[in-house]
Parts: sequence; C-alpha cells; structure tokens
Amino acid sequence: MPIIRNVAAAAMAAVSLVKATEVSLPPCLDPFQPFVYSGCFAEASNSRILPYHSQVKTEGMTVEKCVAECKGNGYRYAGLVYYGACYCGQTVQGAHAEESKCSLPCDGDKTETCGGDGHFSIYQDPTFQPVEDVTISDYDHLGCWTDDSSLGRALTYQQRQLDDSSMTTETCLEACKAGGFPFAGTQYGGECFCGVVIGNGTRAAPASECDMACKGNSSQSCGGRSRLNLYAADELLSLEPCGYVPPVVSSSAAPEPTSTSAAPLTTTCTTSTSSIASTTAPPTRTRSASTTSTTRTTSSVCTTTTVIPPACEYKCGKWCSNPLPNWNGATDCKSAYSKCALQVASCFREAGFPEVLECFNFGAWCSDIDKYCRSTPSGNKSSFCGRNPPQHPNPPKSVTSTITVPCASTSVRPTTSTTTTTPTQVPIPTPTNICKQPSNIWYGYGPDKPVAGIELPIVTCNDLADQFPSYPWKLYNSPNSRNCKKYTRPQCSDACADACKEQYEDCIDVYAESCRSNKLKLKFRSYFEFSQASGMEKRTFGWDDNYNGAVNKCKAQYSDCLAVNKNINISGKCPAFGKY
Ligand SMILES: *[C@@H]1O[C@H](CO)[C@@H](O)[C@H](O)[C@H]1NC(C)=O
Ligand SMILES: *[C@@H]1O[C@H](CO)[C@@H](O)[C@H](O)[C@H]1NC(C)=O
Ligand SMILES: *[C@@H]1O[C@H](CO)[C@@H](O)[C@H](O)[C@H]1NC(C)=O
Ligand SMILES: *[C@@H]1O[C@H](CO)[C@@H](O)[C@H](O)[C@H]1NC(C)=O
Repeated sequence: MPIIRNVAAAAMAAVSLVKATEVSLPPCLDPFQPFVYSGCFAEASNSRILPYHSQVKTEGMTVEKCVAECKGNGYRYAGLVYYGACYCGQTVQGAHAEESKCSLPCDGDKTETCGGDGHFSIYQDPTFQPVEDVTISDYDHLGCWTDDSSLGRALTYQQRQLDDSSMTTETCLEACKAGGFPFAGTQYGGECFCGVVIGNGTRAAPASECDMACKGNSSQSCGGRSRLNLYAADELLSLEPCGYVPPVVSSSAAPEPTSTSAAPLTTTCTTSTSSIASTTAPPTRTRSASTTSTTRTTSSVCTTTTVIPPACEYKCGKWCSNPLPNWNGATDCKSAYSKCALQVASCFREAGFPEVLECFNFGAWCSDIDKYCRSTPSGNKSSFCGRNPPQHPNPPKSVTSTITVPCASTSVRPTTSTTTTTPTQVPIPTPTNICKQPSNIWYGYGPDKPVAGIELPIVTCNDLADQFPSYPWKLYNSPNSRNCKKYTRPQCSDACADACKEQYEDCIDVYAESCRSNKLKLKFRSYFEFSQASGMEKRTFGWDDNYNGAVNKCKAQYSDCLAVNKNINISGKCPAFGKY
C-alpha cells in the first residue's frame, strides 16, 4: 500500500552512504503500538546510524516525541542521541554497544534515557515484518514515474555506494531491500534510489520516457532523465501505519475476508466531505434523505430546521454522484460503500471525455470506503477521508431552512426525526455482479483486470420494493436507482448483454480515445495509476496500444463477455426482495 503523502519542508543532510533530501511529515498523533527498546548502538565513524534527522528540537525531547516523529514518517526505527537529538531510519547502521554508553537523560523527561555521546538509544516499531522474509520479487513494478518536482525527490535515499556502470534492476532492488525500504527506483541508466514514501509531485509518466537501458544489463530499463522505473514492496511497509485502527471483532457479524490489510487512510483531504450548510439558498427538492429537527423555544413557538444534503457530492465532468448517506457503524458503512460502488459505471457512462478519467478517482474513493469499513468499524462518514476526496469548483451546498411553527401541545422535549422519501429501498449488502467479466490470456484481461481497469457495470438484485416483483434484476448504470434499467426474471442474460455493451462503449470512449495521442495516454495513465498506486490493488496493464489496438482489445472483450454471459445460472439469486 504505497502512500503518497504531502511533503512539507525539504532540508538537505549530508550522509556518506545515502543522500537524504529530508521530507518531514507530521508526528503520529493517533494511538499506535508502542515501539520496543532495541538497545544502545554506537555510531560508526563513516556513516550515520539512522539517516532521517527530525526537525524537532532537542529541547523538550522525550522518547515518546521522537517515536511519534518516526511513526508519522513511516520509519521502522527511532533513535535518540546526546540528550534527545531524534533520528529515524529503516535499518540501524551501527554496532550494538554496552548499555552504560547510553546514559544521558532526555531533555524533556529526565527519567528517560536519550542515548550518549555518539551512542543512540534505539527503538523499533513492532508492526513491520522482518526484512529477511522479503525478497526482491516482492517488489512490483509500478511503471515509469517523474522525478523532477521542485517539492523534492521522488525517493529520498540515493544508493551512492553502488557502482553506476554495473547497475541492474536486481542490484538496486537488493540494495533497497537490504535497507528495508518499501520503494525503489532506477534512474539515468545507473542510479538507484530508495524511500519510505513517494515524494509529492511524483507523477506517472509514459513508459517511453524511461528510455535508458541499465548500464549493467542493456536489456533492462533503468529510468531516464528525471524519470525513474518505480518499484514497491508492500511487505516492507508497516502493517499498522499511523492512523491504523484495529478491527473490532463483532460476535454477530460474519467474518470479513482479510485478503487485504487495512489501508492507511492518512492522505490529505483538501475538501471536506461533510456538507456545507447555507441559510440563504432556498430549499430545493431532492430525493435524498433530509433531516428534520424541531426545537422548542422558551415561548410556545417551535422552530423546525430541515437540512437537505447536496444533490451532487462527487462530480466528474457531466456526471454527478448521488450523495452517500451518513454512516455510523460497520453495517451502514458497508451500505454506503455499496451505494458508491454501484455508481461507478454511471460515471464512466455519463461524465464525458476527458473528465471521465476522474471516474478512476471516484472508484478509488469508493474502495477506500470499503477499506475504511473494515479497518474502522466504529467510524462515521465525517471522519472518513480517502484518497481523492470529492472536489469540484462549485461544491453544491446542503440547504438548511428554519421555519417557526406552533409547538405540538404534548411535546415536552425536542424531538429529532429522520425521514426518507424512499423507505421502500433496501441497500445492496455487497455489490457483486451476477454477470461475469471474461478472461483472455492473449489480450491479458480477466476477472481482476478488465481492459483499462473499466469494470463490467454491475447487474444484481433490484433495490426498489415497488419494482422488484416484476423486475428482480437491475443494471446499475445511473446514480439514481430509479433511473436504472430493470429486467424481468427471464431477462437476466439480456441484462448481462447490456452490461457487456456498456463496458464496450466505455472502453472505446475512455480507453481507445485516450490512445489517440501520447499526451492523452499520459493523462489516462496518470489517473489510472494514481488511483491504483496508492491502494492495495495490483493491476498491470499494457500501455503500448494505439487507437486501433485499443479498439481491438475492447472488441475482443465485448465478444468474450457476450459469450460467457449467454446462459447465466440464476437459480438461488435474488429469491425475494431484500434477499441476495
Ligand atoms: C503537493 O504539494 C502541493 C504544495 O504544497 C499541494 O498543493 C498539493 O496538494 C500536494 N499534493 C499532494 C498529492 O499531496
Ligand atoms: C538481463 O535482464 C534480462 C531481462 O530482465 C534477464 O532475462 C537476463 O537474465 C539479465 N541478464 C543478466 C546477465 O543478468
Ligand atoms: C464521527 O466520529 C468522530 C471521531 O470518532 C467524532 O468526533 C464525531 O463526533 C463523529 N460524528 C458523528 C456525526 O457521529
Ligand atoms: C446453478 O446454481 C445452483 C446454485 O448455485 C446449482 O445448484 C446448480 O447446479 C447450477 N446449475 C447449473 C446448470 O450449473
């Protein structure tokens, strides 16, 4: 789960083995598993024990403060030296020393020890896997990425000890692995960089820009000018990064699949996902739920406040999402996720090129909700903050209208009630498609990797009570369930054929269209990879298609899709309203 985090001040620190362009992230303020004391270590004469020097001053330093610094910055080790200078790193470059060498009190707490002269008190984050369990094959190639941002390097630590003239991908990965770094990158034919985070400003670039062969193996690519071939090993990231909340085990709930560990949901939220209240705009009609609360004033009149949430929460081009309900607790969270996932297809259908590429961001936002539901079962919508939060130039406002009404004579205390105008709607618990995504070894698509990451639109049980008896199936291709296409029981295969057709049209309109020029390809790729790179998904895809090649791929997927969905086995599916 590579994280792209905001990078603040960049400072230079000269280290003999590695050059550090330090990027400071805030200390971890959330609760986390305490670091374990690992001993007193002597600094070698030619290198620093830990490369990252915290910007926080020695004055007032405590073990807890330093450990929070290192946790917040994603490092495995924290080290304190000489009354509390704080360092972090992935490995400890120094020899174990006698405990008596670490005897200086911390400046901020005299009862704690903060190393000695040239000796570090080292603490270790226990939520990392041992480096020995990781091999270089655990690094996934993430493609070609830029390294030319004024905000700092893509990866902080250059491996200058390696010989440029014999550089290969393996040499670099070995060095980064040995250093415990989850990220690695080869650049300029012979340079190797490692890091714990990817610098802000690093963007996906066309493969053609990583045009330099490795000096040690000319059949491998080692980046280019200001371009690097980026690799990531999730295995070297903390299993519980800052912000991780351990799942609460509920006795009643069915066990959740644990194929993915909880994702760090610590990316920056530039736009609040909560609605913005306005008292000036008139109330508008909306199908969404509204909240009404009545407050008794001291006199015999009461005021009623109605808050109507915005009709458009996430906007991509011409498309607008139907806002997700607030949630409190795991069940509601899952239905919010479901509501989100069922809208992805409509985004691809309606947004319009090129803004349609933002639908990848919407899809990533939805999958973050799924991860959030699992990692934070007691969470709520206002504290959720995923990748790519909703952003648009004119965020719609929720509307608050206050009217004064006579109090109900029997009412003694304020009452709060929530009314929904569509009470006959049931949430889809898990948005599982009845139709099958086809596979094809030649073209490379399959169940987890449709062409260009554009999923088959979901066909599943109808979520509206009035429609269900006659039309048990629905193709979720509109943000508003009532506008989605619905099907009678025998028409299930027709629904799948329609889904295949929509996927095909999206494939042409989004992917093939993006293959018309290198510039568009880059744009497509940066959206696609950004939405993938920071998540757990590991999809790879051929990026060398031209327009005709892309069209052929889309066509092949379409005909395979029709074939595998010809006779869908519907026995036992959607047997009654609300049953899945
Ligand atoms: C990167 O930093 C810039 C400037 O500080 C900021 O505007 C931008 O939102 C950041 N981007 C990410 C992805 O954090
Ligand atoms: C050079 O790289 C290619 C492609 O990765 C690999 O198949 C080959 O074994 C490498 N050659 C050497 C000498 O390592
Ligand atoms: C959501 O959760 C946060 C953190 O637990 C809490 O501070 C906040 O009051 C909650 N909001 C609602 C609306 O429940
Ligand atoms: C259809 O699915 C049901 C339940 O999953 C199974 O029992 C049945 O054998 C299947 N029928 C065919 C023809 O595959």
